[in-house]
Amino acid sequence: MVRTTFDLGNMAAVDRYKLLTGLIIPRPIGWVGTVDAAGIHNLAPYSYFNAVAATPPTVIFSSGRPQGTAKNSLANVIATGEFTLSIVDEDLVNAMHHTAEPYPAEVSEFDATGLTPEVGNLVAAPFVAEAKAAVECRVSRIIDLGEPATASVVFGDVLLVHVAEDILNGTRIDHGRLRAVGRIAGTTYVTTADSLFEAD
Ligand SMILES: Cc1cc2nc3c(=O)[nH]c(=O)nc-3n(C[C@H](O)[C@H](O)[C@H](O)COP(=O)(O)O)c2cc1C
Repeated sequence: MVRTTFDLGNMAAVDRYKLLTGLIIPRPIGWVGTVDAAGIHNLAPYSYFNAVAATPPTVIFSSGRPQGTAKNSLANVIATGEFTLSIVDEDLVNAMHHTAEPYPAEVSEFDATGLTPEVGNLVAAPFVAEAKAAVECRVSRIIDLGEPATASVVFGDVLLVHVAEDILNGTRIDHGRLRAVGRIAGTTYVTTADSLFEAD
């Protein structure tokens, strides 16, 4: 096999990003809901995202820090210690993509996209009422990467999980009905309902 080997220390940031995220696919999407001190609901997708432990139940997402600044989601989790995650399905993917636009903090992405905010039972952060599943989280730690920080990784303890009953069988999720979406690259996405097969 003829290979090209990349030294990530000697690459432009955009090429590092494209190389890494082009290989680690599909990437799940954490659709992060937060609220700011003025009560404005914020919603944005993060695909540097995953569940990293079930005991304690833990999720992480990583927010880039353009010119050292905190994006709205990160600023809100630092201020409030809370966030939600809504699961993106095929019906919601276009709305999700639009919530990634750089709206100013005083504009709620819920208003901008016509999605309905539903405030959590245990957190004041909103999730997407139209989503088939949503998760309420409390921040357990935030770890800055880079010196000075170029990204911040937010760890959340999962407090509650809400799931629509028609995709649920006990604690098992019907993936075919959820039709969750993962990110491949740019505007290319994949659903969990596509081309499922069983390994031997
Ligand atoms: C599918 C998708 C995944 C994204 N993942 C990330 C991510 O992991 N980290 C990040 O910093 N930005 C990510 N972005 C970009 C943010 O969503 C975008 O910067 C957004 O405006 C941030 O909103 P906020 O300021 O309300 O937090 C992603 C965008 C899309 C469409």
